[in-house]
Amino acid sequence: MNILILGSGGRESAFAWKIAQSPKCQNLFIAPGNAGTTQYGTNVNLKVTDFEGIKTFVLGNGINLVLVGPEEPLVKGVHDFFLNDEQLKNIPVVGPQQEAAQLEGSKDFSKQFMEKHNIPTAAYKTFTKDTLQEGLTYLTTGGLPVVLKADGLAAGKGVLICTTLEEAQQELTEMLAEAKFGEASSRVVIEQFLTGIELSVFVMTDGNSYKILPEAKDYKRIGEGDTGLNTGGMGSVSPVPFADAIYMKKVEEKVIIPTIEGLKKDGIPYKGFIFIGLMNSEGEPWVIEYNCRMGDPETESVMRRIDSDFVDLLQGVAEVNLDQKELVISPKTAATVVMVAGGYPGEYLKNKVITGTENIHESIVFHAGTSTDGDNVISTGGRVLAITTLQDNMFNALQQATADASRIYYDGMYFRRDIGFDLL
Ligand SMILES: Nc1ncnc2c1ncn2[C@@H]1O[C@H](COP(=O)(O)OP(=O)(O)O)[C@@H](O)[C@H]1O
Ligand SMILES: [Mg+2]
Repeated sequence: MNILILGSGGRESAFAWKIAQSPKCQNLFIAPGNAGTTQYGTNVNLKVTDFEGIKTFVLGNGINLVLVGPEEPLVKGVHDFFLNDEQLKNIPVVGPQQEAAQLEGSKDFSKQFMEKHNIPTAAYKTFTKDTLQEGLTYLTTGGLPVVLKADGLAAGKGVLICTTLEEAQQELTEMLAEAKFGEASSRVVIEQFLTGIELSVFVMTDGNSYKILPEAKDYKRIGEGDTGLNTGGMGSVSPVPFADAIYMKKVEEKVIIPTIEGLKKDGIPYKGFIFIGLMNSEGEPWVIEYNCRMGDPETESVMRRIDSDFVDLLQGVAEVNLDQKELVISPKTAATVVMVAGGYPGEYLKNKVITGTENIHESIVFHAGTSTDGDNVISTGGRVLAITTLQDNMFNALQQATADASRIYYDGMYFRRDIGFDLL
């Protein structure tokens, strides 16, 4: 098979690494990819939202399957674009259609879906500019802190946790009346604050049956001890000790099955990944959000724990026979440490030469924001590399990934040395 991956981050690097190992994969392409993905396939200079360009490439290169990494092309309807095109309609896309992608693309849609199908989630209400006054009153009736969420995609910045009523009212006004997050905050979900520990659960589905991939914990804050600004993700670990068999059974029964069955009942087809962001509150799972794709940097750890042929699983999604496929998961621990650019998540340094990756033997160096200047690999993004290792136990995995990250150098480089150590 010839496979095209859309995307350019650490997640897509991990997909490419895994797919390249499959005997079923003949030619692998990554659009646009990064300096590291050329180890596994051929980069294609295309934007993930350039649907016409993707069409030309797919038809010209005999692509048999398209795997979509990020949410943007899904929310913009890349899968529908294929289905509505005479020449593309029989080429499978792994990643949901636009309607289902609203589970991520609209917080209000996903809350309504959860409420309708009795999936445990925080109590909420949605407001618009026209109902701002009701929203301001609603805030006085709930407890604190309170969570305000811009309805649409806001690059991970649209969620505000407010600790005082004044702050919440001011933020709500700015979001609705002053379009603080543009069109994304034309609707705002106000929801109850949940306490507990977060967990990322990943489900692969063909719309009929599902497979639960390894769960992971990710680390979002820039600073050690989970302090400072939010980032795209600074590291991940899988498995997660509290997500034992009993807990995961609860997640399956209370969240995963009602989600898959709810999609079916609502007549919403779904082929791809569902990333369920959970809050574990005293042993009970509560859904914080759905994403319509895999997480980054969770995918790096998750892929390392999948022992089966990933292309076979992707084919199961495409051909709606996932229930006949085998998913073998390694009992070992995977840990990922993300190396970022100096200044990130603010204004950050770019075009810094990266050295030392040749010294890494026990981990895989997944590239994220990298490119080449002809002679050298250089940093181009905020998240530059993801160092992922697989070891017999958690302590060794955490130590190895951290030690290997410190063998790499570029001007201004930074990574957290505490990823996963809270779980020991
Ligand atoms: N109801 C909630 N209670 C507590 N924390 C929350 C709640 N909703 C969101 N959060 C926090 O905010 C983060 C971002 O919210 P999320 O819904 O995942 O939005 P997004 O990832 O789209 O920015 C979550 O990872 C979590 O830490
Ligand atoms: Mg989130």
